[in-house]
Amino acid sequence: MPMTKEDNDLVTRVENGAPLGEMLRQHYWLPAIPSSKLEAGGRPYRVRLLGRNYAAFRAGNGTAGVIDEACPHRKTSMLLARSEEDGLRCIYHGWKINVKGFLDEAPNHTGDQQQFCKHVRTNQYSVVERGGIVWVWLGKGQNGAVEPPKFPELPFVDLPEEQRAVTSVEVPTNWLQAVEASMDSSHVGVLHESTTKLTAGSGNERVLMTKALAPRLEFEERPYGFRYAAIRDVDEHRFYARINNFVMPWYGLICAPYEKGPAMVFFSTPVDDVTHRAWFVNFNEHAPLGPTIISTAPDVWNSPPVPTGGAENLWGQNRDLMKRGHASGFPQHLATEDFAMFLGQGPIADRTDEQLCSADGAVLRVRAAILKSVREFMAGKPPTLATSPALDYRQARSVGGVLPSGSDWRVLAEQA
Ligand code: FES
Ligand SMILES: [Fe+2]
Repeated sequence: MPMTKEDNDLVTRVENGAPLGEMLRQHYWLPAIPSSKLEAGGRPYRVRLLGRNYAAFRAGNGTAGVIDEACPHRKTSMLLARSEEDGLRCIYHGWKINVKGFLDEAPNHTGDQQQFCKHVRTNQYSVVERGGIVWVWLGKGQNGAVEPPKFPELPFVDLPEEQRAVTSVEVPTNWLQAVEASMDSSHVGVLHESTTKLTAGSGNERVLMTKALAPRLEFEERPYGFRYAAIRDVDEHRFYARINNFVMPWYGLICAPYEKGPAMVFFSTPVDDVTHRAWFVNFNEHAPLGPTIISTAPDVWNSPPVPTGGAENLWGQNRDLMKRGHASGFPQHLATEDFAMFLGQGPIADRTDEQLCSADGAVLRVRAAILKSVREFMAGKPPTLATSPALDYRQARSVGGVLPSGSDWRVLAEQA
């Protein structure tokens, strides 16, 4: 069912007070920057989230902070600031903001320093570091009390460093087309046919081998979003089931292609209405990850490669390579192929005139979950999928396995 223009705006736009942006700000932790990008006492980085700019940094004492990019004094960029033991000092007039976002010193003010600093308005944001990522909550507590939302306890957030790898990159399209792709399994064997064979190893080939049999999809609503099993018969006595999870508002947890193998979490967060940051987490709960296409990324803040140019140069597509048998003409990386599709859809995909098919069930459920949440938020209610007492992110287990015919695929998740 195509969407109305109004609904498409509701599920995509985040800027200028758009309800979705306000809901995300208030009810969700946002991944800001990979932990490894921030050096103690090193340079701050611009993190743009929901249409506003922040400075992420690690103070000399090792604590990470996220503050407004604009200095509270006369608004120059705190990206230019000097890093001190517990905060950033603006190089224009020397005001010092600590890692918690409070003004500590205003050396060019002659009156009572303490009194003055207390009365300067600054924003304070809660920050945590888990799973190799600096996360920020940009919301405000009720009546001044700070109560951040539940942290997304996804399966990688407590793993030791050698069992996970994180990269991210900014892509110039709206965030939702990327989130949809993470729940769109029917593109994998088509778009990624060549790159999967070339770069992803034998595990993913198993998925490709079985793709010839279109799977039966069985969906189940969950307190955090939904999960679905892709079921394929192996023979008349057994079937192969893969469980994937969509966790609000943007996490796609993809089942490992083989037992005890590395799994993926994809998420794409809104930078502004027409830009997103694509995140890739590769992790193995059972063993060190070893070298993978994610763990060997050259720059964790700027990988995988984004196609270059626009429609006039086919976003850099290599047609010569296609003549020689490459499926997409984007050999750089599996994700580069996805990015090219998002760019082809335009800055904000037009969902009012699509012609969907039976493979689009999970994509439709992603949209429905977001729309339901935004509508609840607009009605002044906390979104159920962010605040339900039954919400337990640890239950989002994306696992696969072979079961005897007639059994329930849910046992796979329970065993895990
Ligand atoms: S603008 Fe930052 S201290 Fe003046
Ligand atoms: Fe893809």
